[in-house]
Amino acid sequence: MYSHALPAESSLRVIAGRYDVLAHIGSGGMGIVHQVRDRQTDRLLAIKQPWSGNAAGSLPYVDARASISRESLALARLDHPHIVHLLDTGTDELGEPFLVLELLEKPRTIVNWPPTASREERLLALVQMFEALAHVHSAQLVHGDVTPSNVLLCDNPVRATFTPRSGARVCLIDFGLVVGTEEYATLPSLDSDGPPSLVGCALYLAPELIEGAPMSISSDLYAAGMITAEVLTGTNPRSRAGPRTTLAALRDLPKTWIDEAAESFGRESRTTDLLRRLLARDPDERCSSADMAVSELEAIGRET
Ligand SMILES: Nc1ncnc2c1ncn2[C@@H]1O[C@H](COP(=O)(O)OP(=O)(O)OP(=O)(O)O)[C@@H](O)[C@H]1O
Ligand SMILES: [Mg+2]
Repeated sequence: MYSHALPAESSLRVIAGRYDVLAHIGSGGMGIVHQVRDRQTDRLLAIKQPWSGNAAGSLPYVDARASISRESLALARLDHPHIVHLLDTGTDELGEPFLVLELLEKPRTIVNWPPTASREERLLALVQMFEALAHVHSAQLVHGDVTPSNVLLCDNPVRATFTPRSGARVCLIDFGLVVGTEEYATLPSLDSDGPPSLVGCALYLAPELIEGAPMSISSDLYAAGMITAEVLTGTNPRSRAGPRTTLAALRDLPKTWIDEAAESFGRESRTTDLLRRLLARDPDERCSSADMAVSELEAIGRET
């Protein structure tokens, strides 16, 4: 018997008689991720499995197996150069489900830039993030957990069938909290009350989620807006408020944030305007599609 929560024992494992576990490369609230070698193709890949039982680190209110199942259904509907590729799914010897994913090389979060990184590189990464989200939304899915730890930069090249781009490739991962905009019922429920809306990193939560509204395309765009602000200004607008933890502090951004953005980019600048629209408190006033953000960021890139 093995435990896949224990990295030290990982080297002894073979999953489904095919994938040799080489290393533990990540874990979060829902799953544990291993680097594996596929015996059939000799490729290095990543395998994600749910935390077993009540393993330390798991989110107690989310069914990790249902989450993996939702993730596989969502990823199977998606095919995009900036969304992690799902290569296989299965069940291991203990009956635990697993996802086989392309292995991202040197993954780091989208907000993690060396000081020398140019504005062009950052804008290009943000364009890739919004292109990925546009694809998710066009498949009638809401990612539901858009945070820097799920929007990674990596060194894998973009697949040859797509226009090659220089620089790091952005890759959206972790569809464990995905919801459908229409076919909601086709995704297995995360818990008895349906998927919780108030899960995810507080810094990126849209204000309406804090008030109990369900996750939506608009809440994904707000979270991506927070990432955009962080990539372009170096700080998350919420963290400017200091360590305030009240719900009110999460609902309302500090009043000074837009002034600070305007100081960097100019009050009437396209960048300030885009940030204002992505981070509008009222979803009706918010940027309505990821495609709009792509066009704006590309226009900003042409101006600079
Ligand atoms: N395909 C991959 N290649 C390389 N590393 C990966 C891959 N997928 C995930 N990881 C690593 O594993 C970590 C956890 O993965 P993931 O976000 O999918 O799990 P999670 O348990 O749903 O996370 P959380 O709930 O904390 O957001 C990632 O932050 C990343 O560092
Ligand atoms: Mg994650």
